Amino acid sequence: MISDWLNSSRYTVIFTGAGMSTESGLPDFRSANQGMWQQKDPSRVASIEALNNNVEEFMDFYRKRVIRVKEYGPHKGHRLLSEWEKRGLVKSIITQNVDGFHQKAGSEHVAELHGTLQTVFCNSCGKVFNSEEYANGIYQCTTCGGYLRPSVVLFGEMLPEEPFNIAFEEAARAELFIVLGSSLSVTPANQFPLIAKENGAQLVIVNQEETPLDRFADQVIHDRKIGDVLVEWDRLLK
Ligand code: APR
Repeated sequence: MISDWLNSSRYTVIFTGAGMSTESGLPDFRSANQGMWQQKDPSRVASIEALNNNVEEFMDFYRKRVIRVKEYGPHKGHRLLSEWEKRGLVKSIITQNVDGFHQKAGSEHVAELHGTLQTVFCNSCGKVFNSEEYANGIYQCTTCGGYLRPSVVLFGEMLPEEPFNIAFEEAARAELFIVLGSSLSVTPANQFPLIAKENGAQLVIVNQEETPLDRFADQVIHDRKIGDVLVEWDRLLK
């Protein structure tokens, strides 16, 4: 039982994707029915090219996402992960999500591989602002007049070094590595479950749909909602 693994593991690391936040009301990217990339071409709205050549659509896309993450918040699954961290059952979370919901739920050791929508920064002078401005449609830096952009990793950009290095260390240290709600289709983020596995961790994947790494997992749970799975495990924990 995975709850037994959670009870006995001395170093459990959680890896989350957009499927962790769909039960909060945020759409994911690649789900067959509701994924954002089913409706929009990411290269047109979430890439460095879009920022440079399609700025109106880029700004509007991210303004709507910033508004959404401020309207919605963590669900019971995020809160359980935070409780488990406080009880010493979870050491850290590596997340691809930019909604900040793990931190809002109280998790402290969170590596945000793809940045955050909580802040924006000026594309010219680098000054950082709260994304509140963006939600109100303010796209220009008050200091130099340059374009403001969200503090997220755009397609075509490198991942921020610090969270990447933390994630590498955490994956290599993990005895139990649990993936929650990711299609594991984007590199280099999708390498961390393999790094954990290569370093001796038990690998669990909880995802409604199949993933390309299922064959490497010790346990796979499909067709179930993450929130329900975490509540079920929580009932079985000591
Ligand atoms: N419970 C379990 N699984 C779920 C749930 C849920 N409630 N909701 C969605 N899922 C699953 C979907 O089946 C899907 O396979 O979560 C997965 C989410 O996959 P993606 O939409 O591809 O999201 P993610 O893996 O986080 O994408 C990685 O791609 O576009 C970039 O930067 C973006 O960080 C993102 C990266």
